Amino acid sequence: MPAVGFGTLIADAATTISATRDALQAGYRHIDCAERYRNEREVGEALRAGLAAGGITREDIFVTTKLWNSNHRPERVWPAFEASVERLGLDYLDLYLIHTPFAFQPGDEQDPRDENGDVIYDKGVTLLDTWRAMEELVDHGRSRAIGLSDITLNELRPLYESARIKPAVVQVEAHPYLPETELLEFCKENGIVFLAFAPLGHGIRPGPIEDPVISGIAARTGRTPAQVLLAWAVQRGGAVLTTPKSAARARENFDISMLPADAFDEIDRIETRQRFNEVVKTGSPGFIPQSKPQ
Ligand SMILES: NC(=O)c1ccc[n+]([C@@H]2O[C@H](COP(=O)([O-])OP(=O)(O)OC[C@H]3O[C@@H](n4cnc5c(N)ncnc54)[C@H](OP(=O)(O)O)[C@@H]3O)[C@@H](O)[C@H]2O)c1
Repeated sequence: MPAVGFGTLIADAATTISATRDALQAGYRHIDCAERYRNEREVGEALRAGLAAGGITREDIFVTTKLWNSNHRPERVWPAFEASVERLGLDYLDLYLIHTPFAFQPGDEQDPRDENGDVIYDKGVTLLDTWRAMEELVDHGRSRAIGLSDITLNELRPLYESARIKPAVVQVEAHPYLPETELLEFCKENGIVFLAFAPLGHGIRPGPIEDPVISGIAARTGRTPAQVLLAWAVQRGGAVLTTPKSAARARENFDISMLPADAFDEIDRIETRQRFNEVVKTGSPGFIPQSKPQ
């Protein structure tokens, strides 16, 4: 799996298409999608155009998508997978992730809510039930690998022990304010790829993107703060997702290189701790609950 992936959590259709095209042109070959983002068709359209124009083959790219919370019932996993694959216009997936460990009321409503506006969870299915259905996708060659997202180490351990096909990838929020070091170490020990999302703290300010340590390293090493954060994410032994929405940003965020050892250590010593994406704590389906600066 290419260590630097292009994430497709992009709100509008036209930007999804142009950003995916720009990402392919800049050299990204790892594309992270989700049923939840409601733009798999647009990503698929841009992928087809990009592959045709750039002389890139399907085998050159690594495509991931994710099973949403309302499809955790085992009988819903295969249809949800096939629907995603159809929208993306692909024959198979490289990686399929369970998007979160929270099962919602099964159905086509992504955000099932009761009369009080509270999310309706599904108590009738366990994460392991869903995982068993995911394993069948690998058995039949539909997805080359399977994994988990928004999972804590406490939830991952028992699933890892019981899994017949072990998770290949764990995708979680990670950046210097939320390093998830214990989870990273567990992943390294067990041959799981630790894939960081929100490496720039979702761009929320104040946040890691304008942390003085990061700005200082950027200034003295001739990099941008984003390049420092992305390099750190890879250099600690993980993979990373980024969502550039313009060609210039795509090039900037792809052009990363090793940080000097003292800079790397300085980032490890940052003590601020902050989670920007609340889904792990609450199970609520919102992704970026805090308001962004204008
Ligand atoms: N599994 C999950 O639950 C989950 C949750 C969230 C995300 N993800 C995945 O992870 C991917 C990455 O997440 P993310 O995009 O939120 O993370 P991020 O890279 O931490 O944050 C993106 C924000 O950073 C800004 N940005 C991007 N490049 C920049 C640069 N060079 N300089 C300054 N600011 C920059 C963007 O600004 P602009 O808006 O101006 O472009 C945007 O506001 C998503 O696309 C998605 O595939 C997964």
